[in-house]
Amino acid sequence: MTNFLWKRRHIISLADFTPAEYENVLQTSVSFQGVLSRRTKKVPTLQGQVVANLFFEPSTRTRSSFELAAKRLSADTLNFSPGSSSLTKGETILDTAKTYLAMGTDLMVIRHRSAGVPATIAQEMDRLQAGVGVLNAGDGQHEHPSQALLDLLTLCNALNPEQPTIQDLQGKKVAIVGDILHSRVARSNLWSLTACGAQVHLAAPPTLLPKAFADAFAVPLRPEGSSAEAAITRRVYVHWQLSSALKDADFVMALRLQKERMSDHLLPSLREYHQRFGLTRDRIKHCAPTVKILHPGPTNRGVEITSELMDDPKLSLVSQQVASGVAVRMALLYLMGGAKHKTSSPITLEADRHL
Ligand code: NCD
Repeated sequence: MTNFLWKRRHIISLADFTPAEYENVLQTSVSFQGVLSRRTKKVPTLQGQVVANLFFEPSTRTRSSFELAAKRLSADTLNFSPGSSSLTKGETILDTAKTYLAMGTDLMVIRHRSAGVPATIAQEMDRLQAGVGVLNAGDGQHEHPSQALLDLLTLCNALNPEQPTIQDLQGKKVAIVGDILHSRVARSNLWSLTACGAQVHLAAPPTLLPKAFADAFAVPLRPEGSSAEAAITRRVYVHWQLSSALKDADFVMALRLQKERMSDHLLPSLREYHQRFGLTRDRIKHCAPTVKILHPGPTNRGVEITSELMDDPKLSLVSQQVASGVAVRMALLYLMGGAKHKTSSPITLEADRHL
């Protein structure tokens, strides 16, 4: 277990996460995987704390997995659905958040179709000195940090099932294929994978992967206390066709075509998209022989990936991603719950005998 005190109150973006933070999340998640493999899968770590899941946008996996994670940590959970809430009577999102605050919420997990909503609520909570932690569960096309962190755990587990560490990703080739432009999953994964030393190869038609897209991620990462020479150069490559992106890839992450976020006609047809960018058994022959496939879900079967590949247990890590999600979200709630009490009674990882 790593000896590292968690400092973040909120998790909104992975843009400035350091390798030490990724390693901390990874090792804490591995400990929770141990808890989840026991007969009694619950620990009292967040007993008495309230976790509110404020999902202003539909979700299956993320929402259920945050709820289960909070319950496994013995927190009380509140769930919010916009359709049956006072939003329909004109209440603002900030007033909704303040209502949950007044009920004693300690951690807010927020998903919204617009980028920036979790950050705005976090700022308001800080202005009110509420001591509440805000976790971004997906905001528009911006970021989806917990998805990238569960992908990280899944990748490191696949590379080194006994003792996964972020070092395992050094130099590995990860191809991300599909609707990059509209994907918050791709953006968060770009930050995490490059910070951990992987080479990320993006593949999509130019309408879904503008030339300048990768430039935003070309910023070097300089971990706290390190010299300028020790800065990590992020390695991102753009491909407008599939074969060069897939060549010798260790992992391929397929992304859903996010039709709900497409404003224009960016593709001629789904059939043509599948012909050029769909993952098939034949196409992945050019990857490394040990290649594994990921997909954050939900999936358009037969569009970005064939059902046959998606369901092949030798190739597909999709079920492992879902399972990793619970452990990672337990880790994040645990670390943030601990951060909240940093000024009064610190919860260090070593001090928690339940891990
Ligand atoms: C993703 C999301 O909502 O951003 N799904 C997820 O959280 N598992 C990806 C998507 O919607 O395609």
